[in-house]
Amino acid sequence: MKKIVLVTIGVATLLACKTTKKQVAKSEPVIDCNGKNFSYNTDIKPLFEKYCNRCHSDGGAGGYDFTFMDDIRKAGRNGDLLGTVKWKRGYPKMPRRAARLDSTTVAKIECWIVNGMKE
Ligand code: HEC
Repeated sequence: MKKIVLVTIGVATLLACKTTKKQVAKSEPVIDCNGKNFSYNTDIKPLFEKYCNRCHSDGGAGGYDFTFMDDIRKAGRNGDLLGTVKWKRGYPKMPRRAARLDSTTVAKIECWIVNGMKE
């Protein structure tokens, strides 16, 4: 009887560890967007002008012309925007052939999306 209890505890512990590890590996650092109300005109547009629009205008590389807010919103909604600037697997790394955006800039873009992509 003792053995069974011990084995059960052992298996439960193993399972618990496995689940926890999986969650840790999968999750990204959680950023708090509460109260961080960035606006397109003041915060987001200048970023795209600086880092993206030399390729993403006039027809637009990859089908995105980021001189249009609608295209930025679309990429924000379907995951392409964060996927590319966070260099997630399965996305081309943006800005192309340039340094990765710093984490403050990426967080700004993420919070703008999370808080409803306001003008
Ligand atoms: C030097 C040119 C260049 C710059 C700068 C650039 N891009 Fe791109 N982008 C491309 C090209 C070319 C593609 C088409 C996909 C490919 O060939 O990698 C693309 C594709 C994309 C896509 C579509 C990805 C997909 O999965 O289809 C997104 C979203 C994107 N870029 C976002 C950005 C953002 C955001 C920035 C600025 C932070 C940026 N890009 C800067 C050239 C550029």
